[in-house]
Amino acid sequence: MIQADRQPVKKLPPGPRCGRWWTTLQVLRSPRKAFQKWSCRYGDPFLIHALNGPIVVTGRPDLIREIFSQDPAHYDVFAMAAVQSILGAGSMLLMAGPRHRRERKLIMPMFHGDRMRAYGGIMQRIASTQMQTVERGPFAMLDLTTKISLQVIVEAVLGGERAESIDQLMSRARSLVEKSHPVLFFSPKMQFHFLGLSPWDRFTRAKTQLRNAFDAELLRRQQDPAPREDILSMLMEARYDDGTAMEPEHLYDELGTFLFAGHETSAIAMAWATYYLLTHPDKLARLKAELSSIDASRPGDLAQLPYLKAVVSESLRMNPIVTEVLRVLNTPMELGEFHIPAGVAVAPAAVMVHYDESVYDRPEQFQPERFLEKQYSAAEFLPFGGGARRCAGAAFALYEMAIILGTLFSKYDFRLLENRPVVPRRRNVTLGPSTGIQVQVRPV
Ligand code: HEM
Repeated sequence: MIQADRQPVKKLPPGPRCGRWWTTLQVLRSPRKAFQKWSCRYGDPFLIHALNGPIVVTGRPDLIREIFSQDPAHYDVFAMAAVQSILGAGSMLLMAGPRHRRERKLIMPMFHGDRMRAYGGIMQRIASTQMQTVERGPFAMLDLTTKISLQVIVEAVLGGERAESIDQLMSRARSLVEKSHPVLFFSPKMQFHFLGLSPWDRFTRAKTQLRNAFDAELLRRQQDPAPREDILSMLMEARYDDGTAMEPEHLYDELGTFLFAGHETSAIAMAWATYYLLTHPDKLARLKAELSSIDASRPGDLAQLPYLKAVVSESLRMNPIVTEVLRVLNTPMELGEFHIPAGVAVAPAAVMVHYDESVYDRPEQFQPERFLEKQYSAAEFLPFGGGARRCAGAAFALYEMAIILGTLFSKYDFRLLENRPVVPRRRNVTLGPSTGIQVQVRPV
């Protein structure tokens, strides 16, 4: 057979060989810098060997499209062994295949369409009352948005009827997120007890306390089974296709997942949006003009404002809170010109494609207008991941961010107190603005 007829043998992409610890450390410290460096050096996609396994990373829309459109049955959950003991086996984040599909079918209606209208009033009320607690002095915007988004998700889950259980759940959920040290996610070996002082000791204590608060709430509902409209009631009443309900263990894991996945992410995104608006007076003026053109006390109207939505999208583009999403192959995959064997993970990286100059004109600049002029595809704009695992709370989060930012910016003038550029810095499992965004306000 002549040489030219032969198909080239497809191989794994090249990538850095600097040791698993050093690779992981660089990704933890600044995924954007690390990925940029490696894609310049090795091309896109590239292969890294991280502490929790080999990963093929890409920011190419054509490859991202391929990954998101694959049959989800070909994927397993990344770092399952480590994350399972953190979130619990009943968390949707850790399900794969038919079990994951069945779970999404049950849960997605709780975060869709009509439900948003019910949450809108809660979001606006909480934004206004939390704002009153900080009005007087300088404060970190991230602290404010964290309090707001935490209370929003807790009230969406529990309903707003009992202030003391809301306060308790808020402080326990916050404590759980703060005790989620990134090392715990890398390997079960990091999850060891040591005289009650190790990161795992602190995390498990926080988890038990949250669990006790859920137990008390469940008991209270059994004793007083009045009809309620919150997510907990919907979860308790929901039935799978075979007529079965969620077991309590499973319910705890899902509730924990909503609190865990559903507040810090939105809080960071809103803090970044504030920072970009306050460093771009022309964009801020355009937003203020849009806000003053409607009755901003109506949450449904706020959520429809095109420029406000564009501001939210552009902030998520510039600082995607989840910098890359991961899936482990259980079947080999042809990805572009490469062959990826089973056992290797593939990772569409928002932090790469969001800065691709062939997709976004002048990607380093904050330009909400780009989202008014063009509709980006799911392979070009992926702050919520994509495919069969796309964020279950995306509609909720977008609605929440528009209502909270719209409420705050229509009622107050903010002044930025930062005199140096703010950069992303790792907090626990997420990256957030290094200073928290220091601001001062006065009512409009
Ligand atoms: C700005 C806010 C948020 C961002 C940036 C965000 C981002 C993400 C991302 C990137 C994923 C993984 C998607 C993938 O693997 O393709 C995810 C999954 C998930 N998120 Fe969010 N999220 C946000 C808010 C929320 C909220 C408010 C909730 C719940 C109320 C939520 C619940 C979930 C759940 C349950 C999953 C797992 C979905 C599955 O595995 O099928 N998220 N999120």
